[in-house]
Amino acid sequence: MDVERMDGRTVAVFGGSSGVGLAVAKGMARLGARTIVISRSVTNGQRAVDTIHTHGRGSGLVESIVGDPSTRTGAELLATALTERTDRLDALVSTAGSIGETGRTAAGVPRVFATNYLVHFQLLRSVLPMLDRTPGSRALMVGVAPALVKRIRNVRLDGVDPNASAAALMTQAVAWKLLLARHLADIRPEGPTVNVFHPGLIRSNLLATQSLPLRLVGSISNMFAKERCTVVEHLASSRSLAGISGRMVDDHGREVALPAIVTAENATAVWTTSERMAR
Ligand SMILES: NC(=O)c1ccc[n+]([C@@H]2O[C@H](COP(=O)([O-])OP(=O)(O)OC[C@H]3O[C@@H](n4cnc5c(N)ncnc54)[C@H](OP(=O)(O)O)[C@@H]3O)[C@@H](O)[C@H]2O)c1
Repeated sequence: MDVERMDGRTVAVFGGSSGVGLAVAKGMARLGARTIVISRSVTNGQRAVDTIHTHGRGSGLVESIVGDPSTRTGAELLATALTERTDRLDALVSTAGSIGETGRTAAGVPRVFATNYLVHFQLLRSVLPMLDRTPGSRALMVGVAPALVKRIRNVRLDGVDPNASAAALMTQAVAWKLLLARHLADIRPEGPTVNVFHPGLIRSNLLATQSLPLRLVGSISNMFAKERCTVVEHLASSRSLAGISGRMVDDHGREVALPAIVTAENATAVWTTSERMAR
């Protein structure tokens, strides 16, 4: 995969305090980008910055911003905080995610869906003006393994079933990310490119607070996991990818065939529903 230096470019990593996001933030800093870790917690954000410094940050400035885009107001505050720090945003890499969350948000959305889709939508929508102002900018959202994408069939486009299983909600979240990327690619061909990536197996805390068997799975997975997310280094930096949008790529940078539900019409429907759900 083609990777270029990113000196002079600025990247914000939402979810950059852990797992995929931390691996991405390390990579961006190593390539020389000014790297802004977004976390809901001052402590987590600062810990990530310290970790990146310890592991050789390259020449890029590394800093953190605290914010929570789970509400429209929170997303707008975060966008304002970013604007106050930087006048350019070359890439937004959105990696926040969870599994096993239960309950609903104040707006009645199942938390697992809110964390794995809605926060990404809210943040991306809020920072679009910044991305628009930066020529060649990119938005990248974390996805799942291509084998799981292949299995996506019909998902609801008009809302979320609060009684759906966690697995169904996770599947819907991925499908909606693909549809969000497709919609922005369709309606804003001159705007930032928007793509979804599979990071590969990356060292993670995703299962750290789950049941003992799942924690064991997490520990074993971490023994084989990588600490670098090379596909994002490629997608964020390579000038050869300018203009490529609305796609999904795997951890080797190969394009993944999108499920049949990813059509322009469905993408518009999901944008409209997301707007309605985002409060
Ligand atoms: N790790 C892998 O190998 C892998 C592979 C494929 C796909 N993925 C996907 O990547 C996503 C992240 O996984 P990970 O391994 O990076 O997990 P992780 O190590 O647990 O990190 C999760 C990150 O998301 C943030 N976060 C969690 N809940 C949030 C919420 N409600 N709102 C905003 N931010 C929230 C956390 O930030 P703060 O708590 O600091 O705010 C943290 O930085 C998941 O959707 C996962 O399915 C991971």
